[in-house]
Formats: sequence, structure tokens, C-alpha cells
Amino acid sequence: MLSRSTELCKLASKWTTDKALFYTPFYHELLKDRRNIKKVLEFGIGYPEIMHGSVARLGLTGYITGASLFMWQEYFPEAQIFALDNRPETFINEGRIQSFYCDQGNEDSFNAATNITGGGFDLIIDDGSHIPEHQILSTKMLVPLLNEGGIYVAEDVNEPFDVLQSKISFPSEIKTFYRSDLPEGQNTAAVLVIRK
Ligand SMILES: C[S@@+](CC[C@H](N)C(=O)[O-])C[C@H]1O[C@@H](n2cnc3c(N)ncnc32)[C@H](O)[C@@H]1O
Repeated sequence: MLSRSTELCKLASKWTTDKALFYTPFYHELLKDRRNIKKVLEFGIGYPEIMHGSVARLGLTGYITGASLFMWQEYFPEAQIFALDNRPETFINEGRIQSFYCDQGNEDSFNAATNITGGGFDLIIDDGSHIPEHQILSTKMLVPLLNEGGIYVAEDVNEPFDVLQSKISFPSEIKTFYRSDLPEGQNTAAVLVIRK
């Protein structure tokens, strides 16, 4: 049983990302011995209009734009945090966080973005549109940017998992989580993990 009161869980609540609902116990277990990583990329910045529902489930009244970027910045004190999104009004450029445009459904857009960010990532998270075709394209475009030993996580993947996994060119595993906030039959959250 994963602890729900890890340092990362506390940072998620502090910064208001909905990763605190199910994912941060898993992320902490995955990353707690890698706190000195240097380069992190997250696809999907987040803004209040789309996040208010899940943030309310956390018992919080407001969402801070780019919440998870601030969480990662504090959790990884030596890391540059890169963010990609197709809504420039969400961009965060402060501290060690830099944001760049990318349309998750467009291969040319990935190439333009990665010309700027470069590679050498230790951790890449896909928390963008959650559309399966975009999740598949993102693995194609972003997994090659991982360092050896790097980790890729796509959040909110949907069943059938074996069909999704068969469309991805890298060995992957699925982790499922119980969603206590949703009714029976819809109460599973899942991530896809690729280790380079
Ligand atoms: C769930 S929010 C990210 C939440 C944030 N990572 C957090 O945990 O606080 C999803 C983000 O993906 C972006 N997004 C959705 N569709 C996209 C697309 N096709 N291309 C690029 N970004 C997209 C949205 O603009 C939004 O900012």
C-alpha cells in the first residue's frame, strides 16, 4: 500500500495539481531516489478553467496555472523543468521552468519544440490532451529524448491497455489506481510507464 502522505503528495496539494488525487504516491515511490535529476519535461501545463473540477475533489478552491510544474521544480531542486502546451496563455517562464508551444497531435510541432528543448531528459510526463492517438504520437516523439535510465509516464490512459501498448514501439507497463471519487465501473485511473 503506497503512502498518501509523501513529500510529493504534500507538494501536489500545496501547488494544487490534481496529481495529488491518485498519482503522487506512485510518483514518489518511482522517483524518491532520483531527487538529483537534471532535466524534466511535462506535456500539459494546466489552467483553472479545465482543472476546477478535479481541484474541487481535492478540497481546494482554486488551481494555480502550471501547478505540477511548480511541484516538480520544488521536488527536484537541481532540475530544469520544460513544459509543452498549445495554449501560450498558460506558459510559465520563471525560476527553473520554461514553456514552449507544441500541438500534441502534430509531428512537425513536436520537432519544432524539441529543436528548442533538446534531449537528455531524465523524466518525461504526458499530461496533455489524453487522446490515445496523441499519447501514442508523444511516445514516438519524446521517448527518444530520454537519457539512458530515464522514465516516461503517460497519465490517464484508457482500456483496452493491450491495444494501446501494441501501438507503441517501446516496451511499456501499465499501473492502475483506484479512484475513490468515481462510481463503480469507472473508478480506475491508469498510467503507462516506459523505462529506457
Ligand atoms: C490536465 S491539464 C495539465 C495539468 C497539469 N499538468 C497539472 O498536473 O497541474 C492538460 C493540458 O494539456 C493541454 N492540451 C490539451 N490538448 C492539447 C493539444 N492538442 N496540444 C497541446 N496541449 C494540449 C491543455 O491546454 C492543458 O493545459
